[in-house]
This record gives sequence, structure tokens and C-alpha cells, in this order.
Amino acid sequence: MAEDFAKGERRLCARLGLEGDAAESLLSAMRAGVSSRQAVVLTARAPQDYVPPFACTELDAPWLPPRVYVPAEGVKPTAHADYVAGLYYSLDLSSCWESACLSEVPAPASSLDMCAAPGGKTMLMAARFGAENHTANEVHPGRRGILRQNLEQCGMPQVRVTGNRPDQWARSGEQFDLLLVDAPCSGQSLLCKGIKNPGCLGSGMVNGNAKRQKGIMLSAVQCVAPGGHIVYTTCTYDPEENEKVMAYILKRNPDWQAVEVPLLAPFRSALASFPAYRLLPAHGFGAGGFCCLLKKVE
Ligand SMILES: C[S@@+](CC[C@H](N)C(=O)[O-])C[C@H]1O[C@@H](n2cnc3c(N)ncnc32)[C@H](O)[C@@H]1O
Repeated sequence: MAEDFAKGERRLCARLGLEGDAAESLLSAMRAGVSSRQAVVLTARAPQDYVPPFACTELDAPWLPPRVYVPAEGVKPTAHADYVAGLYYSLDLSSCWESACLSEVPAPASSLDMCAAPGGKTMLMAARFGAENHTANEVHPGRRGILRQNLEQCGMPQVRVTGNRPDQWARSGEQFDLLLVDAPCSGQSLLCKGIKNPGCLGSGMVNGNAKRQKGIMLSAVQCVAPGGHIVYTTCTYDPEENEKVMAYILKRNPDWQAVEVPLLAPFRSALASFPAYRLLPAHGFGAGGFCCLLKKVE
């Protein structure tokens, strides 16, 4: 078992092209499990001039999305009455990093979060653009309930909540200006947060997720109007579930292109010929993840 894990670690570093100190840094973050960093995003319930009632850290991070704050070390944002009142939503700083892709997207007339529960990406989108004509979709019934609760708590009753599979969306003929695809993945970054995730480095888990992600994205591209965008994100490091999924989609859909996100330039992946971005624990902004912004040409 330990041998399999070590083999998985080595394979991941090789796939990421990490050697020496860079490889050691990722491996020690996965073993230590202390890279988690929290953030809060203000909700529709928070007045325009609201600031959270706890100490926050000033980050040197131009990509930090609007209405997002980073609680100082030791602060528990969920312990405050304002959290219960729904003035802000608590989530991972790495999720906020991924949503910087939205800085290159015009305000959408309609949007769909295809894998929405528990609701973090929807909250970040709403903080930037509002949530008029937004649909939050979650296939898993139990998780859909949590999503509904979170949207209610955060004052977003206008959001339509649905439970369609991606292929059902594709067949529906409905078209959106913006799709968020925060895809189910092997979740390798969970290790860096101290969350047990057996098998997440195994090729079976990685390849199975990559297959599912390609299926989701093949449906997703059918749901976007010309000129519209997809923000693809995962909380895993393996290129099979990230760059390779994007390359697969771009190859099969010549009317799509990957779009540069200047705010994320320091995180540009060297593993793709198109713009794609990876955050690692060594960057210091949480456990990390991957994002890529795709546009359907007009
Ligand atoms: C990474 S989580 C989404 C997290 C959420 N976007 C957030 O920021 O709070 C991925 C979600 O995809 C859902 N999912 C699992 N399999 C799926 C599939 N085949 N198609 C669409 N969604 C799926 C899971 O139930 C899970 O809620």
C-alpha cells in the first residue's frame, strides 16, 4: 500500500515535470497536510460597504476576486453571527484563485454552474456579476439539498436549482453565455489539506476521472452560445485530468479556443501549448488546483 502510494507520488511529479526541490516541496505538502487556506466571499446579503468583523490578511495577489477576504491565521469565520446571517460564505482560497478566470469574461446574460454543490463557485460568480438568470445544477440529490440551503442562507432565492446530468443539458438545447465546470476529480489537493483521499494518486482513479471529465465537457460545449465561455476547474494536480482534458476538447471542437488570463500569468502551465493555469501549495495560496478559460468563437 505504502509502496503504491510512493509510486503514485513519483508518477505525479514526473507527469508535472517536477524535479529536485520542486518535487520535494509538493510531496512534503501532500504528506504534511497543512496547506489549507481559507477565504470568505461576501454575499448578496452584505451591504456594499460591509467588511468582515474579523482580522484579515492583506495578500499580494492581484488575482483576488472582488468581495473576497482572507481571514488572518487563527480566525474561524464560520464562528461569527454574520456567517450564520449569510453575509459571507466560507471557502478555499484556491477556489478564489480559480475564479480569477472570470476577470476575462463579460457579464453574462445567462449562466450555468454545471457541478455546483455546495455552491462556492456560484457564490464567487455572483459576487462579480450578480446572479440574475443563473442556474446552479447538481446531479447528486443529497448535495443538491446542501446547495439549496447555502443559496437560501446567502440570500440568493432567484437562482434556479436543477439536477440534470450534463448529457441532459446538452440535449435540452438551452444555451448560456457562461458555464462553470468545477469538475468532479481525484482531489489530490485534499491530501495537502490533511484530508485522507486513498487512491487519489492511482492511475485507476485518475484515468476514471479524466474519462468522466471529458464526457462532462463534451456535453458542456453544446450548452454555450457563440461568444460564450466555459471556466473549467479542478482541485487536482494530475495533467491527465487537466491539460489533457482541455486538449481533448479543443481538438474535437475547432470553434473553441483557450483564453489568456493575464492575472494568472505567473501560474501558466508549461504542460500545454494553450493558456492553462496550475496553483501548487508552494505558491502559498492554499492547497492548489487547475483552471482553464475556454471561449466559443463567434
Ligand atoms: C468539485 S465538486 C463542485 C464544487 C462546487 N463547484 C463548489 O465550488 O462548491 C464537483 C461536483 O460535481 C458533481 N458530479 C459528480 N459526478 C458528476 C457528473 N457525472 N456530472 C456532473 N456533476 C457531477 C459532484 O456531485 C460534486 O458536487
